[in-house]
Amino acid sequence: MSNAPIGIFDSGIGGTSIFKEIKTLLPYENTLYLADNFNAPYGNKSKDEILALSIKNTEFLISKGCKIIVVACNTATTNAIKELRERFDIPFVGIEPAIKPAALSTQTKAIGILATKGTLSSKLFHKSADLYSQSIKVIEQVGEGIVALIEDGKTDSEAMRGLLRTYLKPMLDANIDYLVLGCTHYPYLMPLLLEILPEHVKIIDSGEAVARQTKTLLEQHDLLNRKIQKVENVFYTNGPTTVLNDILEGPYKVEHLMF
Ligand code: DGL
Repeated sequence: MSNAPIGIFDSGIGGTSIFKEIKTLLPYENTLYLADNFNAPYGNKSKDEILALSIKNTEFLISKGCKIIVVACNTATTNAIKELRERFDIPFVGIEPAIKPAALSTQTKAIGILATKGTLSSKLFHKSADLYSQSIKVIEQVGEGIVALIEDGKTDSEAMRGLLRTYLKPMLDANIDYLVLGCTHYPYLMPLLLEILPEHVKIIDSGEAVARQTKTLLEQHDLLNRKIQKVENVFYTNGPTTVLNDILEGPYKVEHLMF
């Protein structure tokens, strides 16, 4: 079982930002990535729809023999991880916007969170946000349209710059000094964010923490790979393979599959 793959899923290519963190920390692990591009974006779907898709993705990864599931999607984590843990007897790692480190470090007492509608309207997100918004200002912003542009291969485009300028303005007006990226697609916006944001605004995302948590859980369950002769990283998508190939920039096998 220890050489079974780590299963990772997202609505699309965003979770590859998590895959890259996992590969950096755990280079000898086999991985299987599932991009549900056909149903992307998840951000505007209802909780029930997100849960149904998350169950389907998990069932697929388990059917391929995965030993642990990384829900590399804030929207799916905040809407479905509790139910997934109740339903499946396999360890799960999820991802949520990193409000805590931003809230504890802010000097201006104002932080910004950019995430999908699904994440920002979830109970799980509100539980954490409510905990911190008593002492500081938390400016939430739905990143409407961002995921669709990234999935379309238009990350570095004038359309994206326009959206980001609009979404960040209320945060800058409120004098934030931390911006939390609450969607796994958003780390790919880093060059544009650095271009738009003033230097004193720090950007936080949870990718590295997810990789560390994956390692901890594998250790706890005695599941770290011991057969490291031939490491395989496989990618499945039910959409076009081009964008996934472009973003991976590596010698990976991307397969198109309807699921
Ligand atoms: N990458 C996802 C997230 O972290 C999903 C975005 C979407 O499909 O709307 O929220």
